[in-house]
Amino acid sequence: MEKKRITILASGTGSNAVRLINHFKGHPQIQVSAVISNKKDARVLTSAEELGIRSVYNENSFMETGEALLSLLREFRTDWIILAGYLRLIPAEVISEFNGRIINIHPSLLPLYGGKGMYGSKVHEAVIADKRSESGITIHFVNSKFDEGDRIAQFFCTLEGGEGVGHLEAKIRKLEHAYFPLVVEQVILQA
Ligand code: GRF
Repeated sequence: MEKKRITILASGTGSNAVRLINHFKGHPQIQVSAVISNKKDARVLTSAEELGIRSVYNENSFMETGEALLSLLREFRTDWIILAGYLRLIPAEVISEFNGRIINIHPSLLPLYGGKGMYGSKVHEAVIADKRSESGITIHFVNSKFDEGDRIAQFFCTLEGGEGVGHLEAKIRKLEHAYFPLVVEQVILQA
């Protein structure tokens, strides 16, 4: 049986993308075949290249044009799209062709602290400002709205009193790295 092929979309550092690439290296049924970024100098592009993964940059206007992005995804023979720190909406044409086969990770317990403009340290700042006693990560399917697709899994961490943004961010990152590849693997194998 042919392996299921993942294309990762990412805009930044790509620590989750690297985890995914390494997790599926040598996997019998799943492979990461490409990384696409909308940021020309995103670290994810060089990190993925170093790991032998085809990596391409395309500007936002391309990424937001359904037919353009679809043709690139087809060229990569993509079965699944994984968003790992990708900050733009996915065009409707792509959502309809890949319905139920696009997964995102978000660094909060959605529906809390999601939506447009809620990313990176902004999420953690808001959690701390609200004096929450817990936070976590959400892995979910992607639809046409930011962070509103069906949830697949959530993982929690507790906050200590007086905890700083950097500390919370590190805890969240740990959860992401530990669980995202495993959940993606489970979803793909069960599909
Ligand atoms: C992660 O916190 C993820 O939850 C969010 O964007 C961040 C990406 O980090 N969607 P990295 O580029 O994978 O290090």
